[in-house]
Amino acid sequence: MNTRWLFILIAFAGVAVAALMRAPSLPDVAIPDDAASIERGRYLVHAGGCISCHEDDSGSLSGGLAIESPFGTFYASNITPDPDTGIGGWQGSDFLLALKHGRTPAGGFYYPAFPYRAYASVSDEDVLAIAAYLLSLDPVAAQTPAHDLPGWVGRWQMAGWNLLADMAAPEPVQYHDAQIARGAYLTQSLGHCGECHTPRNALGISQQEQAFAGADMPDGHVDAIDAEALASWSQDDLALFLFIGLKPDGEYVGGKMEPVIEHNTSQLTDTDRQAMAAFLKHRIPGLD
Ligand code: HEC
Ligand code: HEC
Repeated sequence: MNTRWLFILIAFAGVAVAALMRAPSLPDVAIPDDAASIERGRYLVHAGGCISCHEDDSGSLSGGLAIESPFGTFYASNITPDPDTGIGGWQGSDFLLALKHGRTPAGGFYYPAFPYRAYASVSDEDVLAIAAYLLSLDPVAAQTPAHDLPGWVGRWQMAGWNLLADMAAPEPVQYHDAQIARGAYLTQSLGHCGECHTPRNALGISQQEQAFAGADMPDGHVDAIDAEALASWSQDDLALFLFIGLKPDGEYVGGKMEPVIEHNTSQLTDTDRQAMAAFLKHRIPGLD
C-alpha cells in the first residue's frame, strides 16, 4: 500500500477517533514573569532547538523557515508575541497544549513537523519558563506562508496519526543515574535528536525501538548515533563534538547538524553536554 492510501485510511480512522480526541482540558496555569524564569526560558529555548526552526534572517523568532518532508513543505510559525501573526495573548494552558499535546489554542491539530511528540515529556515548569521567555521578546508582525501540502494531507488526520504514534510508543524508560536521566531529558525530549536520527515508518512515525539508529531524510541519510555507532567515540569526544562540531577524525560536521550545534548544544553548560554524551554512550534501559 502506498503512502497516499495509508493516509486516506488514517483519515477515516481520524474521523472515527476525532470525537474521542477532544483536546485535554488543562487548568489555567500562570506564566511566570520574573527575570530568573525568563533567563531559564532563554536557556531552554536553546536546549529545545527552537531557534533552528523559528529564527528568521533578522534573528527574531518570527518564523518562515521551510521544512521539507515526504508529506510536503511546512513553514515554521511566528512565535514572537505579536497578537495577530504570532503568539501574543497566549495563556499558560495554550503553551502546554501546543508543546506537549500538539493542539492549537482552539483545539485543532498541529502537524508533527513541529516536534511536539518529543516535547510531550518536557516538564510543565520548563514549558512555562519557555513561555515566559517567548512573551518577553519584542513582537514582530510577520505572516508566515501557508504550508504547501498535497490535497490528501489535512490537520484533522493528525487525530489518527497521534493515536497510531501513541500505540507504537514503547513505555518510557526511567533512568536511575541522575546524569543519564538529565542527558535523556536533554537528548530525547528537549533536544529532539531522534526527530532526525531515529528511523520513521511510511506514515512518518518514529520507530522508537530503533532509537538513534539513523534515518533517511529527504536530503540524504542521517548517521546512527546509538551506543554501537558511537563505540569508537569517548564520552569527552562526544561532549566536545556537541560544543564545537568537531568529530574524533578531525572533520567538522556539516549539513543539518550545523545549526543544531550552533543554536542548541554549543549554548549549553559543560555539565549538560556531558550528560547528553553520557546518555548516548551509556544508556542501558533499566540498568543504569
Ligand atoms: C523542526 C522544526 C521546529 C522546531 C525544532 C520547533 N518548532 Fe515550533 N513549529 C514548527 C512548525 C512547522 C510549526 C507549525 C505547525 C503547524 O502549523 O501545524 C510550529 C509551531 C509552533 C507553535 C504554534 C504557533 C502558532 O501560532 O500556533 C509554537 C508555540 C511553537 N512552534 C513553539 C516552539 C518552541 C517553543 C520550540 C522549542 C522548544 C519549537 N517550537 C521548536 C517547527 C518547529
Ligand atoms: C535537523 C536534523 C538533526 C537534528 C535535530 C540532530 N541531528 Fe545530528 N546530525 C544530522 C545530520 C544530517 C548529520 C550528518 C551531518 C553531516 O553530513 O556532516 C548529523 C550528525 C550527527 C553526529 C555525527 C555522527 C557521525 O558519525 O559523524 C552526531 C554525534 C549527532 N549528529 C548528534 C546529534 C545530537 C546529540 C542531537 C540532538 C541534540 C542531534 N544530532 C540532532 C541531523 C540532525
